[in-house]
Amino acid sequence: MHDQSAVEELAVRLADAGSDGAAALAAPPSARAQVVADARKISVAHARLEHLFDSGSLEEIGAEVLHRSTDFGLEKKRIAGDGVVTASGLVDGRPVFAFAQDRTVLGGSLGQAHAMKIARLQDLALRAGAPLVAINDSGGARIQEGVDALGGYGEIFRRNVAASGMIPQISLIAGPCAGGAVYSPALTDFVGMVDASSFMFLTGPKVVKTVTFEDVTVEELGGATTHAQLTGVSHFIWKDDLEAIDQIRKLLGYLPSNNREAPPFVESTDPVDRMNPEFHDIVPADPRKPYDVRGVIELVVDAASFMEVHANWARNIVVGFGRLGGHVIGLVANQPAVLAGVLDIDASRKAARFIRTCNAFDIPLVSLVDVPGFLPGRHQEHGAVIDHGAKLLYAYCEARVPKLSVILRKAYGGAYIVMSSQHVGGDVNLAWPRAEIAVMGANGAVEVLNHREIQAAADPAAKASELKDAYEQKFLNPNIAAQRGYLDAVIEPHETRRKLYRHLRVLLNKREWTPPKRNGNIPV
Ligand code: HXC
Repeated sequence: MHDQSAVEELAVRLADAGSDGAAALAAPPSARAQVVADARKISVAHARLEHLFDSGSLEEIGAEVLHRSTDFGLEKKRIAGDGVVTASGLVDGRPVFAFAQDRTVLGGSLGQAHAMKIARLQDLALRAGAPLVAINDSGGARIQEGVDALGGYGEIFRRNVAASGMIPQISLIAGPCAGGAVYSPALTDFVGMVDASSFMFLTGPKVVKTVTFEDVTVEELGGATTHAQLTGVSHFIWKDDLEAIDQIRKLLGYLPSNNREAPPFVESTDPVDRMNPEFHDIVPADPRKPYDVRGVIELVVDAASFMEVHANWARNIVVGFGRLGGHVIGLVANQPAVLAGVLDIDASRKAARFIRTCNAFDIPLVSLVDVPGFLPGRHQEHGAVIDHGAKLLYAYCEARVPKLSVILRKAYGGAYIVMSSQHVGGDVNLAWPRAEIAVMGANGAVEVLNHREIQAAADPAAKASELKDAYEQKFLNPNIAAQRGYLDAVIEPHETRRKLYRHLRVLLNKREWTPPKRNGNIPV
């Protein structure tokens, strides 16, 4: 069922239900599940879960649960299930647990009974070693239930953290979400939002107005664009709820069910020894010329297997999943098309987070390096680039999964060390013949080292040029690094895919021992 496009599938479902498929196509794009729900006379929450699971595999649990509150007239508002559908089922034949909150029941707000249902589902998912998908559509803690509601969120948060790194946890924000309905997602591995109809904030505009007298729209405060581009709170932005759920199914396909399993292998029809002369055209020889590194990624991985994560935030670095010879890999690539691929606060946070996710779920890392260094300046320093850059460094050092890298063009300064170099634990380090590895570029180096000599010269410009040439000859190539053994091989660009695969296949069983009782203290 899920191999058709979402729209076609919806039309088919509606036809099955005796409704008019055309109505779905005309529906507002953000909430197509509403159309399914109306046609089938089920709740939107239920329709969303049905779309998530393989056809006919959904098993609901706790459908009869009622809240017990009698405050503020709540005794007259008891609805079976208490505003959340909790269920298990299969996604591509693999077990998954999921819940979906129902905005039509007390705003999807979370009271004690609602919380107990979610906490029970979290316990089951962890015991079963299966992913948990959370479809959030809730105003947060149910105001009328007071401390029972707050305590309920505490129970959920604690379980989110206990499950972190044990099972994949994926959150979809499918409506206006506040308070605990955004804090719980923030504790999970991935957050996705539906464009124009989902919002995330600690507290919504109505409450903001009462506290700070500020007028702010929901979109400005916490719309999908705000979180996918500006804050990075959301890893994905999807155009409507059913597309979002299709993409979550796809994302699950890259992840193991738990931290004791390998990620799913998918037989590849794309030859692992495919050569790519196109690299010579994609990557300009001049190291100052931009290009889109996603063009390189697409050719390295198995055909059409790249799924980008955080595509709209910190675009100077690209991260995402792909497959190499059928094995899942996590890609981290500097992006010369945006800010020349420089590393800054957001790029460091984005890559560090992705590396930690890959490390948790045994996904080997492939880093494509083309980086001029860290972005200098007051804004970055005052924003704690020291800590955020260190976070990326820490993530690479700490990752125990196979770590492979290719320097495509340049790797300068701290960024050379950080980006999976042998010195921080890289298992395989390759470089293209034009790679430049140095503490800094020729202009900066000559300025620091030779400014007196240049000033004293009869022709300062000619002297500067001569010194830069000498520096470039000496440093701006991979030779010294290869001679020292810091690079394992200098490879021709066209053989990048083949070489990476051959190194990956022998590292798949890599195991690194860590002491059982150790809590590394990551910079924040
Ligand atoms: C009880 C709630 C509710 C809540 C919404 N509703 N939030 N009921 N508790 N938290 C009810 C409304 O009364 C309304 O009921 C219905 O849901 C729809 O809400 P509207 O406001 O009409 O919808 P909308 O305009 O779309 O605005 C959605 C919203 C807004 C932005 C989410 O409802 C809102 O600001 N709610 C409060 C958000 C919040 O501050 N929550 C507490 C967070 S504290 P009727 O009967 O009129 O249809 C928290 C603790 C954890 O969660 C903190 C983590 C550290």
